[in-house]
Amino acid sequence: MNVYDGQKMADLLKVHGYTITEYPEDADVAILNTCHIREKAEHKVFSDLGRLSTIKEKQKKINQDSDMIIVVGGCVGQAEGEEITRQAPEVDMVFGPQSYHRLPEMLAQIKQKSKGKRSKIVDTEFPTISKFDSLPVAYETPVSAFLSVQEGCDKFCHFCVVPYTRGAEYSRPANQIIEEAKHLIRLGAKEITLLGQNVNAYHGEGLNGKEWTLGRLIYALAELNGLKRIRYTTSHPLDMHNDLYEAHRDIEQLMPFLHLPIQSGSDRILDMMNRKHKISDYLKIIEKLRNARADIEFSSDFIVGYPGETDNDYQHTLELIKKVGYVQAYSFKYSPRPGTPASILEAQIPEDIKTNRLAQLQNLLNEQQLMFNKSKEGKTLEVLFDRQGKLQGQIVGKTAYMQSVTLDGDSSLFGNFLMIKIKHGYRNSLSGECV
Ligand code: 5AD
Ligand code: SF4
Repeated sequence: MNVYDGQKMADLLKVHGYTITEYPEDADVAILNTCHIREKAEHKVFSDLGRLSTIKEKQKKINQDSDMIIVVGGCVGQAEGEEITRQAPEVDMVFGPQSYHRLPEMLAQIKQKSKGKRSKIVDTEFPTISKFDSLPVAYETPVSAFLSVQEGCDKFCHFCVVPYTRGAEYSRPANQIIEEAKHLIRLGAKEITLLGQNVNAYHGEGLNGKEWTLGRLIYALAELNGLKRIRYTTSHPLDMHNDLYEAHRDIEQLMPFLHLPIQSGSDRILDMMNRKHKISDYLKIIEKLRNARADIEFSSDFIVGYPGETDNDYQHTLELIKKVGYVQAYSFKYSPRPGTPASILEAQIPEDIKTNRLAQLQNLLNEQQLMFNKSKEGKTLEVLFDRQGKLQGQIVGKTAYMQSVTLDGDSSLFGNFLMIKIKHGYRNSLSGECV
């Protein structure tokens, strides 16, 4: 979602004459669009600010009139507000994820003030009118585009800052989403990933004036000509509604790959996390999805070392991973976040235990991912190419399962679905030849 928000910020500023620079050294305005989900992401903000401050000094040495405006947007901005300008005086502006549509006006305000005497702007309001009503249409789009349909979260998992930083759940009306999708397709998007912190809790106003679920919305999007792939992320097991299973059964464009976080394989830990469901519920969902679409595969998020997690709880997580068989996953050491209930629990797990548990868990997940990728050797898969590879003369695309496939070729192939015979499956990618 930060990528989507970042693109929207660029679109907002484009009409005011700004363009994206490749190097921070060239920037008149530097915006850090930040993440607060774990401590590591937050630390990165402050080290990046140090770097920007040095660049600003260098710019000044070259041109005395230069005066780079440094901005912190996103969830760290929301959570820390004015504290950021105290800790990092080089920061001119701080805003949260729900107020970035005011960016042009805030920048104009800062530029009006005489140089050297800038006053700071901190805007961490949750406005009553949705920011989506004031966002411009995109100027360009990648072949594989993001589209925010839902934001915020009312679930309050005990480890998580999202309900505090992104705010309460909000669903955009379906007509707004469909218009944005049509626009992206006109600009060349072939694949759209619907975004939301709790995307399957979507309950926006439908075209008939009644509330629509995510499943219903996907049925409507599937009717748009030229949209070949639909995905949605991130889902919560509690919000799997019937028409979402039906969409997986009926809609070919809906990719057979679902990111469905479980966090832990222990019912005791799920309860302590306030996830409000059991492992058996999750396994039932997986089974129902497999019944709806036999070729569906799964990825997930895992947290190890949640306060109070015993070795027995942890073993249950490994067992669950073996039972489900994931083709991809994200896993993290529990990171205490200020203001969340879990952060003040006494039974915090020592760092070395977290490190060991994470390493072992990731070994297992990596093994599963490698096995899945190897199982594609000799098969012919449809791949949507959209990016330059690391090596000269190489391009990269994605399979239905989000596996990266490298191929010799150039950017003229972007936006094409090619049938690729897979030669090698590695842990993080596949390689093959065009048939
Ligand atoms: N510590 C570690 N991981 C976290 N996540 C969210 N909050 C924390 C935290 N405090 C992980 C969850 C979530 C993903 C987006 O980030 O696994 O699904
Ligand atoms: Fe955070 Fe997701 Fe839980 Fe919401 S459902 S509190 S976003 S982990």
